[in-house]
Amino acid sequence: VNIIVTGASDGIGYQLSRLLNAPDTMVLLVGKRDAVNIKASLSANQHYISADLTSELGVSSVAEKVVQLGWDDIDLLIHNAGIGWVGDSKDQPWNNIDKMLSLNCLAPISLTHRLMPYLKKAQGKVVFIGSSATHRRCPSFSVYAASKAAIAGFVRSLRIELQNELSVQLIHPGPTKTGMHAKAGLKKHWIQMFFRKPDSVAREIIWAISSNRETVNVGSLRYRIRCLSKVFYKAMEWLKPVLLLSNVFTWFKRTA
Ligand SMILES: NC(=O)c1ccc[n+]([C@@H]2O[C@H](COP(=O)([O-])OP(=O)(O)OC[C@H]3O[C@@H](n4cnc5c(N)ncnc54)[C@H](OP(=O)(O)O)[C@@H]3O)[C@@H](O)[C@H]2O)c1
Repeated sequence: VNIIVTGASDGIGYQLSRLLNAPDTMVLLVGKRDAVNIKASLSANQHYISADLTSELGVSSVAEKVVQLGWDDIDLLIHNAGIGWVGDSKDQPWNNIDKMLSLNCLAPISLTHRLMPYLKKAQGKVVFIGSSATHRRCPSFSVYAASKAAIAGFVRSLRIELQNELSVQLIHPGPTKTGMHAKAGLKKHWIQMFFRKPDSVAREIIWAISSNRETVNVGSLRYRIRCLSKVFYKAMEWLKPVLLLSNVFTWFKRTA
């Protein structure tokens, strides 16, 4: 089994490649950082390539690496690399918008096209990592949300173009505790304590990949239930002294 995971040097992608590490599986991890920072943690059947996927050169280098590895086919391609940016869209610099759209939209489209013959040979699967931001109003994340919505639109049509040849899946994770938010400029906020851990999100993604569902939301509902239950628990903690006092008061009233 031959697998490629982009954005595999950090966060969700790193956890995905750990979970996909099996004796009969060859995994090509793609990240932007230099190979020296990642190679030590690789097993014998994992390879790493440092490629800036915002450029055509970076996308091509992944395709060249597949040739270099002597792979005949690709069973699974996971487009996971992505970046965000926080702030009013009017303040987002042009070059940042360009970079975000290049990485979040152009790269997965272009890499899918480049690797299509390999994927078709294996009758493989292409997985696009979207975001729950696709379905929500996300002020301060407008361009990011637009980039993920664009990918969702592409996937909807690609699925029809490739039916009977490849499976195409879209997976939308909910908020996850990775470095992405800090890199995007989001300041530490108490709400982040409710975000899910990347390893458990990755486990759910692997489970989703093994299913035949075309579009899967990972963890959003659970995230909301967790938020609500934590808020309820906190409220109960605050109310405890009041409830205790009212119990004492009732006891005094009864005994008086
Ligand atoms: N975290 C969340 O709350 C959340 C929620 C929904 C969806 N998602 C989506 O999940 C995916 C993974 O996010 P994450 O939270 O795991 O982010 P992360 O921890 O910041 O990891 C991002 C990965 O993308 C790679 N990357 C960044 N720029 C790149 C470039 N120009 N070329 C190639 N690779 C590049 C990074 O490589 P280096 O580190 O080597 O630079 C890293 O491996 C993204 O598509 C994101 O939109 C995240």
